[in-house]
Amino acid sequence: MSGGTEVRVAVFPVAGRGTRMLPATKALAKELLPLYDRPLLQWSVEEALASGVERLIFVIGENGSAIRKHFSRDLALEQALESAGKHELAMQVRACALPEDKVAWVVQDSPLGFGHAVGLAAEAVGDNSFAVLLPDDFVLAQIPCLAQLIEARRTVGGDGIFLAVEQHPLGEVSAYGVLVPESESVSENDKVITARSVVEKPTPETAPSQDCIIGRYILTPRVFEALRAGQRGVGGEIQLTDALAVTVDSGVPLYGVRFDGKRFDCGQTNGWLTANRALADAHSSQE
Ligand code: G1P
Repeated sequence: MSGGTEVRVAVFPVAGRGTRMLPATKALAKELLPLYDRPLLQWSVEEALASGVERLIFVIGENGSAIRKHFSRDLALEQALESAGKHELAMQVRACALPEDKVAWVVQDSPLGFGHAVGLAAEAVGDNSFAVLLPDDFVLAQIPCLAQLIEARRTVGGDGIFLAVEQHPLGEVSAYGVLVPESESVSENDKVITARSVVEKPTPETAPSQDCIIGRYILTPRVFEALRAGQRGVGGEIQLTDALAVTVDSGVPLYGVRFDGKRFDCGQTNGWLTANRALADAHSSQE
């Protein structure tokens, strides 16, 4: 049963074309672009592992082979580095490799959307509550963003859906999934918001709130039932947000979590550059 179990499984939908970053992403998955000293994707893999995740499911597309290579052992490279006396680097390269029995690779060969990608992971996820991380949302935080969601879930109890949210000006809400709050009277310092539903990319005029979903989710496997229906939403794609709304209508509780930390949209050039700068500043202040 999934009720009350720990969150040990994470899904990384990394099959996207990276259109907003073209031409940089013509031959390279956007998740492999460097963020400070390692690929973007490695940051969210490390976030998941630091939050207690033990199984990682990657939904890959046509640029997926380089992603697999990054997370596999490269004995020749390790040996070459060792022979050159670069032991620290050899160790860092070895540390990128994930144990094969902890990883599953699922191929998304048609670009039918984020919800479709998550749905393809159903078999690998099984009957477990699971996390979804969108690696182009990078979160700089003292406590990993996913760990904050897991803590909120532990505090609330049960087997609901937990979404990391941050407030954006009304003019920006149409880039996000947005919470429909249960009550208007959520206190300022209340980090966990009870929600009635979610809406994908509303217009500023129809936005139910300014609590925008960022790419960190804890979901119940019941979401797969809604995803199987394959309903098309915004942009003609199968949207995860729509499947969440259906799942909530069937009685699953939904919460937004206002996490502590700063999120950067690394799926576009300015956000990616700002995140690089923030990490460079954080490192130089530690030196
Ligand atoms: C996706 C989701 C959206 C969410 C966003 C966070 O949108 O569909 O609900 O708010 O990620 O980054 P996308 O950025 O793929 O358009």
